[in-house]
Amino acid sequence: MATHHDMDDGLSLRAPVSEDGSDVWQLIQKSGPLDKNSMYCNMLQCDQFGDTCVIAELEGEIVGWVSAFIEPSDTESLFIWQVAVDSKARGMGVARRMLEHLLAREVCAGVTRLRTTITADNEASWALFNSFADRMDAELKPEPHYGRETHFEGRHATEYMVTIGEFDTSEVRDQGVAS
Ligand SMILES: CC(C)(COP(=O)(O)OP(=O)(O)OC[C@H]1O[C@@H](n2cnc3c(N)ncnc32)[C@H](O)[C@@H]1OP(=O)(O)O)[C@@H](O)C(=O)NCCC(=O)NCCS
Repeated sequence: MATHHDMDDGLSLRAPVSEDGSDVWQLIQKSGPLDKNSMYCNMLQCDQFGDTCVIAELEGEIVGWVSAFIEPSDTESLFIWQVAVDSKARGMGVARRMLEHLLAREVCAGVTRLRTTITADNEASWALFNSFADRMDAELKPEPHYGRETHFEGRHATEYMVTIGEFDTSEVRDQGVAS
């Protein structure tokens, strides 16, 4: 997949390869409050789910990451697992541009919904996905889904399933963000 250079601030967006896994793991270590998965998990995301994951680089350094997959039981839904942007690159639209870049890929041509889970206290994440829904002119619906007690033995806050859609990915493709 070709690398895409967005605007003129030097940000480049691309699909990951397996060798990126350890750098992605390092980025996530710095990106609290995200769950820290194993290095093996991040490597596997890069290697086996790379078509639906995104790396953002500034001057050759990885500053952004989106892990995602098309849901096996609902192929119109793109599930976003994690979004991380290095603190030095926040507030520049890196997260937004990674999401748009992903939806503009051919593999997402049939996607009509984006889904993700967010805890109530993650303001940046709510802001990102609310802003994304506005830009896609789509509705955002949150519902408690993975419960603190039901799923996490009281050790993790309730995760709200956020569904954004329906939308048409041809809009992002037309904006020229495809790679
Ligand atoms: C959440 C995160 C990915 C946002 O990355 P970013 O590149 O700074 O976000 P963007 O610049 O693309 O901003 C997208 C929108 O979200 C808003 N936003 C981003 N961070 C925000 C914050 N901390 N507080 C309020 N709004 C915020 C922006 O204002 C923008 O909205 P707008 O287009 O209406 O102006 C980044 O802060 C991060 O990595 N945080 C730690 C990890 C995390 O919590 N990830 C959860 C996402 S699943």
